[in-house]
Amino acid sequence: MQHRGAWKNRWTFMLATAGSAIGLGNIWKLPYMIGVNGGSAFVLVFIACIFFVGIPLMMTEIMLGRRAQKNPFNAMQQLALEANASTYWKYLGAAGMLAGVLILGFYSVIGGWVLSYIAVSTQGTFHNISATQSAQNFEVLLNSPITLIFWHSLFMVMTMSVVARGVSAGLEKANNILIPALFAILLILLGYSMSVGDMHAAYQFMFTFDFTKITPVAVLSALGHAFFSLSLGMGAVMVYGSYLQRNVSIAKTTIYIAIADTMLGLLVGLAIYSLVFANHLAPNAGPGLIFQTLPIAFGHMPGGSFIAVLFFTLVAFAAWTSAISLVEPTIAWVVENTQVKRTHATLVLGIAIWLLGIAVSLSFSTWKTVTIIFGLGIFDTLDKLTSTIMLPLGGLMMAIFAGYVMKKNHLQDELNLKRKAYQIWTVTNNYVAPIAIFAVFIYLLGLVS
Ligand code: TRP
Repeated sequence: MQHRGAWKNRWTFMLATAGSAIGLGNIWKLPYMIGVNGGSAFVLVFIACIFFVGIPLMMTEIMLGRRAQKNPFNAMQQLALEANASTYWKYLGAAGMLAGVLILGFYSVIGGWVLSYIAVSTQGTFHNISATQSAQNFEVLLNSPITLIFWHSLFMVMTMSVVARGVSAGLEKANNILIPALFAILLILLGYSMSVGDMHAAYQFMFTFDFTKITPVAVLSALGHAFFSLSLGMGAVMVYGSYLQRNVSIAKTTIYIAIADTMLGLLVGLAIYSLVFANHLAPNAGPGLIFQTLPIAFGHMPGGSFIAVLFFTLVAFAAWTSAISLVEPTIAWVVENTQVKRTHATLVLGIAIWLLGIAVSLSFSTWKTVTIIFGLGIFDTLDKLTSTIMLPLGGLMMAIFAGYVMKKNHLQDELNLKRKAYQIWTVTNNYVAPIAIFAVFIYLLGLVS
């Protein structure tokens, strides 16, 4: 077995995990999902999912990793042995690795969109841009497979070159500056949106909770997105937890990360929707939403080109630190079980994901009509399959493992919670989260049958 990395201290772990959580999920995906799923109803369910499912399961996942100090596959195997349970549990680790690969297949393409928008912003293209022009620019990008593949390739090279060096030696320091910087620039954007946009309409759209508007599909998407946004259910957080020292409080760290992650997403949402409503755009534009609306803001504010470059650069960094965590479990598994070098493993996996990303890039134009499952295209298949099925299922299994398979004294030892907090965790991990996920799956089965 080769050497395993370790975080220097609690702070680096927290930043790395926040770096994994904060990404395109917050800035690109959450805002458009709010729009597609009817606004405030979705927001409400999403927040509930973060608190009642996301936070407890994030604690569970970190706990599993730290107890085993191994990659997800070996971790589940070892923990199962420790609990006298079947070692089939290791396949939970394997399923997670697969989910990570599938997610990066499309994540990297969207990361590529962001990179291309950095390039475009440097040319001052957004200056005085109209809503129609902005939408057109995005359409042109989607219909240029070569451009998409170029930027996707660059994003893959960036991601895999950090992974090749080892995560704890890789981006640890960068995170320190980037995450606070991202928050700062968001506040600037938000300030701008408040002054020229329709913040009142945005606020109403996102936060006038009307329980009657909640639909089953919104619940399904909100649950899936809670997993996606917190990087749960596939072993990313587990592997980060496995590099963590014993003396760190899992609960506190988790709560800080979950709150920062959720707040950031909602703030981006407010900034975007106040522009959407002020410009009479459709809130349900889908995946192109931020790429169509934000240029309008940048194009009309003083110093807009500069701020646009800065913004997309920070988004690219956020996406980068997330992408790394999607492949780290698999690479850790190879390194810990075989003689294959980290660099070689990274190269091979990188090429496989790169090819997948090419298919995704083509699915916006040439292969638009290609469908994989349930009549969904390549991009939608990867997105829906991972977010609404694989991640919640992975989370469900982890919750069951921790709650019903592991020995209680091991749990208590690792989580190290006060009595009350431990009770809350037990109720949410053993009952609330599994029942919520299960209910959603039953509904899903009803949909497809
Ligand atoms: N959470 C990241 C985001 O919001 C994406 C991500 C990184 C992820 N690692 C993950 C999602 C693991 C699911 C599982 O952009």
